[in-house]
Amino acid sequence: MGTPSNRPRFALILPAAGSGQRLGESIPKPYLSVAGRTILEHTLQPFVDTGALVHVVIPTEKNYIQTAKQCVASSFPALSFDVIQGGKERQYSIEKGLDAMKNAGIDAQWVAVHDAVRPFITVDEIQRCLDAAVQFGAAIVAVPAKDTIKMVDIDADHQTVAHRIEDTPPRAQCWQAQTPQIFDSSLLKQAYENARELSIVGTDDASLVEALDRDVYVVEGRRENFKITYPIDLTLTRWLLEGEEK
Ligand code: CTP
Ligand code: MG
Repeated sequence: MGTPSNRPRFALILPAAGSGQRLGESIPKPYLSVAGRTILEHTLQPFVDTGALVHVVIPTEKNYIQTAKQCVASSFPALSFDVIQGGKERQYSIEKGLDAMKNAGIDAQWVAVHDAVRPFITVDEIQRCLDAAVQFGAAIVAVPAKDTIKMVDIDADHQTVAHRIEDTPPRAQCWQAQTPQIFDSSLLKQAYENARELSIVGTDDASLVEALDRDVYVVEGRRENFKITYPIDLTLTRWLLEGEEK
């Protein structure tokens, strides 16, 4: 581990363009206010605190571009950032983020992708993930699965009643992917180009790099780095950040 000054510097894409369907709030998740700041600002803070962040691109829904700009400029006045219109799927939002970085002339060797709605990431996790990315070219934060994972048949007719189990991968080998996911920038660009050419839509960035047959490594994180997805996650977030049950 180096000091912030000799540590490799990285750029960040912070996808924030989702509509938050599963949470069911009237505004998108990153713009909900908790403990006096938006979730977006809480999430960005530890990345800024690494002292190694060179630039941030935030893809977001068109109507929230101004809001995002105001939040970031007021909380992080010294930060170099860009807010852009996101895409229909998370993958397309990130693809647009990579294009925006290129257009802005940002050529950081390391690019991190982190969900705008994982506010409990820590400086230590970001740094360990970055160190692994520098060593191996691609690394993600993940946690060992606590439940046994079942692969099920989702195409069967009776699926409204129950799903037939097809396979049970050994639990010790199952890890739940979180973010950040950090890559050598040329590898990540290549992975997104390949995904576009082959019409691959992945649920995370690592899977697109894996599709190139390139190795990606996991760094063990914490369960607190959950993604705010369902109402229970927002309740827990408020409780953790505000110190009381809401
Ligand atoms: N995201 C994005 N562009 C999209 C979809 C998602 O930038 N087209 C972002 C979200 O804003 C979020 C992150 O990707 O920060 C993870 O996505 P998810 O938790 O699925 O958020 P939503 O898509 O907003 O939620 P839902 O799937 O429940 O609608
Ligand atoms: Mg979504």
